[in-house]
Amino acid sequence: MSDLQGKNVVIIGGTSGFGRRVAELALESGATVAVGGRNLQRLNEVLSELSSKGGEIRGHVVQATDAASLQDFFEKAGRIDHLVSTVGGAMGGGFSTSDIATIHETFEHKVFDNLRVIRVAHPFLNDGSSITLTGGTGGRPHTASGAILGNAGILTMAQGLAVELAPRTRVNVVAPTWTETPFWRDTPLEQRQSTKAYFNNLIPLGRTATIDEVAEAYLFLIKNTFVTGQQIAVDGGVGLVG
Ligand SMILES: NC(=O)c1ccc[n+]([C@@H]2O[C@H](COP(=O)([O-])OP(=O)(O)OC[C@H]3O[C@@H](n4cnc5c(N)ncnc54)[C@H](OP(=O)(O)O)[C@@H]3O)[C@@H](O)[C@H]2O)c1
Repeated sequence: MSDLQGKNVVIIGGTSGFGRRVAELALESGATVAVGGRNLQRLNEVLSELSSKGGEIRGHVVQATDAASLQDFFEKAGRIDHLVSTVGGAMGGGFSTSDIATIHETFEHKVFDNLRVIRVAHPFLNDGSSITLTGGTGGRPHTASGAILGNAGILTMAQGLAVELAPRTRVNVVAPTWTETPFWRDTPLEQRQSTKAYFNNLIPLGRTATIDEVAEAYLFLIKNTFVTGQQIAVDGGVGLVG
């Protein structure tokens, strides 16, 4: 496993949830870190909190739907040893009943926003670098149509890129299932609690993940220098049953 001392870890989505914890763990492993997100206030809060713990962290607002914004972000973030992206959304509903635009948008954000991130980041990647994307598990095509397409798409894309970018860059995916992160901040508390109870019951390990458990999988894929084109499901076994 490689040490992150002196390495630059760049996290699109490093201002919240999984990405924010990855930023913290990378700093603790000796890396310099650059984080990006859309919301300036969240960005400033993370920069102030994490820099007060020591380590070199900087960040910039970025919008992954916009190639010019990504170009500006990566020019400021510097040469990349490890790139992480948590960009992507979620949706419920099957193929016959959901709005086609919603299915399309969910797939678009999961797959094409991340492809855009990688295309723009590519010239900044160092030899021996890695890219770790965020997929997802749990749910079924008839209950989460666009999300399932997006999760399948992101793994397929990672498998293709793992060969295309080898031997210089490894490409992998972390796939969480429902996890209590700020991703659900706009969902009413009661609904969040009932969804959590549903997953506690469904997940073979009897509970949902902690943000830490998911973040550790990114660190594994960043540090292990012989894993590429793979997905780690951090889902308590839910992908096997539901
Ligand atoms: N949490 C779950 O239950 C769960 C389950 C399965 C899969 N996932 C996947 O995990 C990822 C979400 O991670 P999370 O739960 O840690 O969510 P989160 O707390 O909302 O964090 C998402 C991060 O990504 C940034 N971001 C989102 N869209 C962006 C864009 N277009 N351009 C730039 N930055 C963008 C956000 O920035 P702003 O805050 O500034 O917008 C934020 O920093 C998604 O890919 C989702 O599909 C989550």
